Amino acid sequence: MADPPISSPEWYLKVKDASSDIGRLTIYHYGFKQAAEGTLVFVPLDFSSGPRAILDVGTADGLWMREVQSSIPSPPQGTHTFLGTDLNESFFPTNNTPNISYMKQDIREPPPPSWQDSFDLVNLRMILIAAGSGDAQRTVVNEHIKAVKPGGWIQIGDCDRVCPTPEAENPRYHDMWACIRAVCQASGTDPLEAPKIKKWLEEAGLEDVQERTAMRAVGKRNVDQDLGEQGIQADLIIARGFAEAAKGLDPSVKPLPDERLETLAEDLEKELRETGACFPMRFIWGRKPHAT
Ligand SMILES: C[S@@+](CC[C@H](N)C(=O)[O-])C[C@H]1O[C@@H](n2cnc3c(N)ncnc32)[C@H](O)[C@@H]1O
Repeated sequence: MADPPISSPEWYLKVKDASSDIGRLTIYHYGFKQAAEGTLVFVPLDFSSGPRAILDVGTADGLWMREVQSSIPSPPQGTHTFLGTDLNESFFPTNNTPNISYMKQDIREPPPPSWQDSFDLVNLRMILIAAGSGDAQRTVVNEHIKAVKPGGWIQIGDCDRVCPTPEAENPRYHDMWACIRAVCQASGTDPLEAPKIKKWLEEAGLEDVQERTAMRAVGKRNVDQDLGEQGIQADLIIARGFAEAAKGLDPSVKPLPDERLETLAEDLEKELRETGACFPMRFIWGRKPHAT
């Protein structure tokens, strides 16, 4: 049987070496955080006046939750509680952090009814694509709005999957994104939904809907040399995986000739070292209205 498309839920389920994939996700996490000037929580939720319940969907090893937990004020009474969900339980950390729990949950299944109106903040970062089609991604968003308390917030982080710099400047980074789009589309996954999310939240009746773009700097573009170098290694894992998958596509949808696919990772590594690149993230958030 053919291998599942890279980054699909089936591919994530087959990840054998969780630590190496978590390494890549960790580098992305710090890249996104740097790109957003340290912001992990975009919503104006007051953590100091009372205990809050936070859900992180597609949490992997819960790094976002652990970093948020250590950066927010404690409430005068009670504790903030975090729940992280993922399809692949082998990503969950083996050592317990107080007030952070984990459970297996597939975003393609409806969330448990007990979640209805129960979270002050629901975070979905780099997970919607796992739902597949644009309609399925929008359904996941709507299902998770149901889990938000009236007056609570949902925040979504996703990437545009189009190289934001001119092709003359980043020809190989353009090639990488072309491979990602072609492989996603060939498996029925819509890679270009991120710019639509703000409208989805508005049409779902959320208030104070806002959006912020954040460019994760890769390679030479990063002022932090170490993070820039780590970013190259993380993007090369993606570039190799998608170039390999693109080789197997029908010629009518193949994004590049086989010779270019063959050398994509090698050529991209050179480009990222000599020029650097920008990985285009956007963060969108909105508040669920209080019941009238
Ligand atoms: C790109 S990673 C993002 C991890 C984390 N949210 C972050 O931003 O660093 C995608 C995560 O979603 C999980 N995942 C993939 N398909 C899923 C599904 N159908 N339901 C739940 N989680 C899924 C993967 O196991 C992986 O941990």
